[in-house]
Amino acid sequence: MLKKKIKEIIRVNQAGELGAVQIYKGQLAVLKNKPISKDLLDMLKKENKHYEKFNELILTYKVRPTILSPIWKAGAFGLGALTAIMGKKSTLACTEAVEEVIIDHYEKQSKYLKGKDSKLCKITEKFCKEEKEHLDFANKHDTGKDLLHITLKKGIKIISKTAIRISEKI
Ligand SMILES: [Fe+2]
Ligand SMILES: [Fe+2]
Repeated sequence: MLKKKIKEIIRVNQAGELGAVQIYKGQLAVLKNKPISKDLLDMLKKENKHYEKFNELILTYKVRPTILSPIWKAGAFGLGALTAIMGKKSTLACTEAVEEVIIDHYEKQSKYLKGKDSKLCKITEKFCKEEKEHLDFANKHDTGKDLLHITLKKGIKIISKTAIRISEKI
């Protein structure tokens, strides 16, 4: 049971970090010449490190990756590109929504892993801290308080949570 749950944690985190990489790549594809691209690139580099770490853990813990990787990959890139096209507010609304979900997710995992797998727990705690830096960056800007942006954030959160639930299992 414990082993199964830990495998789920690694599977979903690898999928999630792949999603994060792809979102920032999608945004950068649209905004590569804008001033914000430097910050997006910094976040992309962090997400790449997170993704690489979970790729490593997939091997050491012998976890089968989610079969939905190609779908998350394309979907997340599309979400990034779309929000970037919509403008700066939407770009950062996307960061805010995704990072809020992932922070909550890492916090729950860290609580679960405490005393069960301290090595993995340290990783989820460290990454959680780094996702908080991404959220702080988004929160320094206006991510929109109007209906469109509030709806966008809600929608992205629902999508992210659903993707998490599915990736734990398949
Ligand atoms: Fe990440
Ligand atoms: Fe992040």
